[in-house]
Amino acid sequence: MQYFVTNDNPVTIATDCLVVAIHEDGQMSPTAQALDAASEGSLSRIINRGDFAAKPGQVLLLNDLPGITSPRVLLAGFGKAGKTTENDFNSTAIAVSKWLNDSACVDAVSFAAEVSINGRSAGWLVRQTVINNEIALYRYSQTKSQVAEIKKPLAKLTVACADASPAEAETETKTGQAIGRGMNLARELGNLPGNICTPIYLADQALKMEKQFDDLAVDVLDEDDIAELSMGAFLSVSRGSRQPARLITLNYGGGGDSKPVVLVGKGLTFDAGGISLKPSQGMDEMKYDMCGAASVLGTIQAVAELQLPINVVGVIPSSENLPDGDANKPGDIVTSMAGKTIEILNTDAEGRLLLCDALTYSERFNPDTVIDIATLTGAIIVALGNNATGLMSNNEALATDLLKAGNDSFDRAWQLPLWDDYQKQLDSNFADIANVGGKEAGSVTAACFLSRFTEKFKWAHLDIAGTAWNSGKEKGATGRPVPLLMQYLLNRLEN
Ligand code: BES
Ligand code: MN
Ligand code: ZN
Repeated sequence: MQYFVTNDNPVTIATDCLVVAIHEDGQMSPTAQALDAASEGSLSRIINRGDFAAKPGQVLLLNDLPGITSPRVLLAGFGKAGKTTENDFNSTAIAVSKWLNDSACVDAVSFAAEVSINGRSAGWLVRQTVINNEIALYRYSQTKSQVAEIKKPLAKLTVACADASPAEAETETKTGQAIGRGMNLARELGNLPGNICTPIYLADQALKMEKQFDDLAVDVLDEDDIAELSMGAFLSVSRGSRQPARLITLNYGGGGDSKPVVLVGKGLTFDAGGISLKPSQGMDEMKYDMCGAASVLGTIQAVAELQLPINVVGVIPSSENLPDGDANKPGDIVTSMAGKTIEILNTDAEGRLLLCDALTYSERFNPDTVIDIATLTGAIIVALGNNATGLMSNNEALATDLLKAGNDSFDRAWQLPLWDDYQKQLDSNFADIANVGGKEAGSVTAACFLSRFTEKFKWAHLDIAGTAWNSGKEKGATGRPVPLLMQYLLNRLEN
């Protein structure tokens, strides 16, 4: 997909399709008004007749309007003027992109950035238009023998700058494309089944990325290496599966000698629960238990594409969690890389067993900040549903920055407490710490567990169990929280 920006007169632009914003009360965006004037009121006639309600997500095609160079005008509904929300904007942008891709249009010019959303700049709308275009056109096909052919896919989208300067619009287009592509990488890896997307497959993806980018160095450790590092917690999980584990490190060095941000992604390519076996209902969705890892790969791809002047390290501990004769048993005690002993009371609380060793491993990168991203607890879905990512941190300034990045990118997080009060739920009679903290505050006690391994650095934990994928008819990975992570990194560059 190619992106351009323009400030040209919509009346005389030559493209397959002009996309213009209309509001519910019949209010037209500046470009819609200009086209209306040039076409002797063609738009207002249709709108006044009541043929286009302009509800969010609605589009209407107009052909061959007199006085207008382009053959098609697509009316895009953005709801009540002045009341358009980010969700409205995204759903219309996605509907427009899908419509364009399915139509005979190969290129289009979108004036969607003329919409006004409280607190959002035109540059934001330009970026969001591009992100939405990227994610709207993603289709999962790798394991289908037949995929319906798209006759004339959209190949070129030009975004009108509206109130943004051409330079800003251009930057936002590039940023949006990198974020959208990063999300789509994360989605594809998430959607792939567990028998294809194994720890070795994830490692191969990282190695493929290493070849693509000069500033990226990838290191893949096998189980012998992991044993050499004394990662007894990580290895105890992988022992229960025949797929060998991998510890994948991606080192992006665009930031000279500055301290890196380390992103640690949970990479369970399938989580059956182990001996504490999960119920079979919906268990297929546990192929998504590597979405934290996928978001790290997606983010690092975007950072590398944009050649951001920062240092970012991705650490991905990857394994399966299955029941086997050699699997962890409830009551087993293992020793982590940090030397702390862990009583495994529930083998299904495996993510923290991988993450604690990966977090200890992160110390060697002398990090400025460590953020782990994990589909860690079902409890976060009970608490926050599918809208907000759960955030917990040992540093308030970092938590504030991540919440802001979530709001800025509209890939939002919500903070839960990490008070000492909860730590005692992890007391064990037989080890330094238990791997579960009982039924109360499950997401907080999971983060408390991780906090025991993050005392040496600023750290935040993102629990994405509710936000990384959709269930039901629209089952599929979302690509979250790549936008939040990218925004966090971009905001750091501003300060
Ligand atoms: N990967 C799961 C968390 C999960 C569950 C994500 C359901 C999305 C939907 C994690 O490994 C897990 O099994 N967590 C347990 C922890 C419990 C045993 C303390 C859970 O949430 O039930
Ligand atoms: Mn589990
Ligand atoms: Zn899991």
